[in-house]
Amino acid sequence: MNVIIAVDGPAASGKGTISRAIAARFGFSHLDTGLLYRAVARRAIDGEDPVAAARTLKAGDLERSDLRSVEVSRMASRVAADECVRAALVVFQREFAHSDGGAVLDGRDIGTVICPDADCKIFVVASDEVRAKRRYLELVEKDPSTEFETVLYDLRDRDARDSRRAVAPLRPAPDAVLLDTSHLTVEEASGRAVELVDGAIARNRSRQSGNS
Ligand code: DC
Repeated sequence: MNVIIAVDGPAASGKGTISRAIAARFGFSHLDTGLLYRAVARRAIDGEDPVAAARTLKAGDLERSDLRSVEVSRMASRVAADECVRAALVVFQREFAHSDGGAVLDGRDIGTVICPDADCKIFVVASDEVRAKRRYLELVEKDPSTEFETVLYDLRDRDARDSRRAVAPLRPAPDAVLLDTSHLTVEEASGRAVELVDGAIARNRSRQSGNS
């Protein structure tokens, strides 16, 4: 059985944490697709054409330690609006989705564009303030001069660009389940997601046994 789980949502909604919990619980492979755009952004900041960078992306590009900076986040959202950059990354994501043993991919367009036939689609949301606080707490550890208001502004700016772009905008697939993590602990949010995946696997099994 090849299960595909799509987890989408805005920045710092908790989709990464939820996806890792799903992968650990079910033994699925996990791809954080935001890293692909971050790696392209990093190379664009270093002076490369983003489309050329996307077409020649290597595993090592995803392992760089500086992909989570504010500068890279802003640039990732910009390069992600380019149709040719997105097109260059589609095949890799779809192949990953068909990994043996199941896969969970998190991003912005997994349920709508990359894997429209995913077995389970979860769209993770949280209020702007809650998301900004989570991101602020991560960033202030590395840089004590980080200001909450700047983090909130950057997050809203990035969400607006990711949602309003013409190509593969951030939006829930019609059949996605909305999961609001604003007032949930990590354990509660992950537990709810695991329940949704359990349900999807059971439906998938009964469909397959009905077909045989
Ligand atoms: O998930 P993240 O914050 O690491 O993503 C960084 C940027 O990459 C995000 O602002 C938009 C873009 N992105 C995208 O357009 N599509 C995806 N599937 C994943 C990320």
